[in-house]
Amino acid sequence: MQRTPRVSIFPNPRDVARTLARRVAAALRDNPRVVLGLPTGRTPLLFYEELVRLHADEDVDFSQATTFNLDEFVGIPAGHPGSYRTFMGRFLFQHVNIDPARTNFLDGAAADLNEECERYEDSIAAAGGIDLQILGIGTNGHIGFNEPGQELDARTHKVTLRPETRRSNAALFGGDPDSVPTHALSMGMGTILHARKAVLLATGDTKARCVERVVRGPITTTLPASLLQLHPDAELMLDNAAAQELDGVS
Ligand code: PGA
Repeated sequence: MQRTPRVSIFPNPRDVARTLARRVAAALRDNPRVVLGLPTGRTPLLFYEELVRLHADEDVDFSQATTFNLDEFVGIPAGHPGSYRTFMGRFLFQHVNIDPARTNFLDGAAADLNEECERYEDSIAAAGGIDLQILGIGTNGHIGFNEPGQELDARTHKVTLRPETRRSNAALFGGDPDSVPTHALSMGMGTILHARKAVLLATGDTKARCVERVVRGPITTTLPASLLQLHPDAELMLDNAAAQELDGVS
């Protein structure tokens, strides 16, 4: 049996981004109604840049695609500069021909957050499930905002953000970690593992240690990304720096 997640290593972050963007463009050509799960953070920025370029230069068509973002901060309105909805508009959606009605976000300002999480799960199911879930990884091994812990929630839920996660999001909130919301809503591990295909992007040497543990195991809730070993079609796309602890794995 082929090991999972598969590991693909590229010379630099640009090559990771370019390869994934080409694959997404091919997926859109094969199935214009493809359902994509999308991440935020620094890592996917080059990937979004490449998608924008493919749309401009090669007419890659997003008009019938559907997207679901992985997570959103609690307590800030949709238009807030720190919201992930704002992030996606700025780096991807404003630059391609996606139908805003087909872009789905968790509403971190919803009056009833449990209901909001249920609504999101129902929307994913109504869209036929996620075909391709793209993920980043926190230096603590989180995917989405599924933080390391004794237990992990299967479905979309409210999470308490760890201090390191709030620090790494400070740039969205004027550089001040204390201004980053303390809570977020996130797809759960089951939501992520139910995607037909999962691709985790990791670049840079700060991710190398985590990546090695994701590939070699053990599977543990204290490293949520290690659960990708349970997915039948998961892949890590890495640059050399993120792959530096992986001698002999391919
Ligand atoms: P980063 O964040 O891409 O900014 O490193 C990844 C994540 O926390 O999922």
